[in-house]
Amino acid sequence: MTQPHSLSSGGRFNEPTDAFVEAFTASVNFDQRLYSQDIQGSIAHATMLAKVGVLTDIEKDAIVQGLQEIREEIERGEFNWSVAQEDVHMNIEAALTAKIGIIGKKLHTGRSRNDQVATDVRLYLRDEMQLVAGELTRLQKGLIALAEAEADTIMPGFTHLQTAQPVTFGHHLLAWNEMLQRDYERLMDARKRVNISPLGAAALAGTTYPIDRLQTAELLGFDRPTENSLDSVSDRDFAIEFCSFASLLLMHLSRMSEELVLWTSAQFNFIDLPDRFCTGSSIMPQKKNPDVPELVRGKTGRVYGHLMSLLTLMKSQPLAYNKDNQEDKEPLFDTLDTVQGCLRAFADMVPALEPKREVMREAARRGFATATDLADYLVRKGLAFRDAHEVVGQSVAYGVAEGKDLSEMSLGELQQFSNSISEDVFDVLTLDGSVAARNHLGGTAPEQVRAAAQRAQTLLRQRG
Ligand code: ARG
Repeated sequence: MTQPHSLSSGGRFNEPTDAFVEAFTASVNFDQRLYSQDIQGSIAHATMLAKVGVLTDIEKDAIVQGLQEIREEIERGEFNWSVAQEDVHMNIEAALTAKIGIIGKKLHTGRSRNDQVATDVRLYLRDEMQLVAGELTRLQKGLIALAEAEADTIMPGFTHLQTAQPVTFGHHLLAWNEMLQRDYERLMDARKRVNISPLGAAALAGTTYPIDRLQTAELLGFDRPTENSLDSVSDRDFAIEFCSFASLLLMHLSRMSEELVLWTSAQFNFIDLPDRFCTGSSIMPQKKNPDVPELVRGKTGRVYGHLMSLLTLMKSQPLAYNKDNQEDKEPLFDTLDTVQGCLRAFADMVPALEPKREVMREAARRGFATATDLADYLVRKGLAFRDAHEVVGQSVAYGVAEGKDLSEMSLGELQQFSNSISEDVFDVLTLDGSVAARNHLGGTAPEQVRAAAQRAQTLLRQRG
């Protein structure tokens, strides 16, 4: 039986690696999650080597069979990962050699761990991006359905977190959807630069064997092979792009979280979050805390941090591969885990939000939210907008002093400030009149919200 090999015993080494250095440089504890893609890549490589005559079919079959057995052992939890074998690639190759003998040592012909790891990470990220896309779509679906159902629900719209104008809750939710739609498009765009095959670049310069890179690219479902061997082993832009997508996504989720936290507070009281998304306080029995949105808001920090880690990792690195690149995995993996967790929590939670429609309407009614509508009314009666602004300002000051909203004033009260005001003013001072009047593409009118929800659903249906 051929002994499994170790890179730092025998060969050019006169002494074994220091035990601490061995542990310090090993990545197997975190890169073992690439096992499936590593095996997939090796099978494609061996298949190609047999096609071009570098391996015999018998050798290729033994390698493929051995790798499949190793995959099953790993999945049954029976595989013995060893730090002495440094990383996922060496662990699997050593196990293959232990299993099938000298033929196992031929797998690495015409390849290096440098193009191997670049291939594995791209395959892994591509697979995970598919899951991210699925959860993002599920979240958007729930959001759009809720928006459609709440197309007529009136709430205050805010600027500077001060009541500005009435809007519909459906319109607000569709604003969230726009953010997520852009995120989805960024994800799909990033995927184009992930799904390219670096395999065949070998250590950095390519290889002297008559390899067929188009074939391995095709076997692995890549769109094409990369163009330049030096760039192939050193490029980690694709991981940075994913983290950049993730940072924007989490920025958006944190903004939604912030609004949910505000809205569930007693002071706003706009929505209820079902108990299953909340926890209590260990000391204050009355509390029901919006933990899920708070935690998503908090997790944004680590995702931004990972983006900074990767940008800094790659800064000033000379071509081509450097061991530094081993540090790409933990930030990328944690970003993937975090994004998937946050999306899952949001996709589960959004359809369960319980809007308190009367409270929202009352809040809009109280905040002089139809002041702009009164100004627009006066402009239609012939006043210049700045003069109308002045008249409405005086009416609001009166309302503040009297504790009355504009819609609660009598005609006589309103006419103190302008004799252009007549009975028809009450058509525009109502909340429903106010939102219905903003009836154009992108406006808050219920009719527009329903149409926008339809368009958003069509976009979702067009996804693969
Ligand atoms: N574990 C390494 C990494 O993650 C694999 C590539 C190692 N290549 C090398 N020449 N040491 O980057």
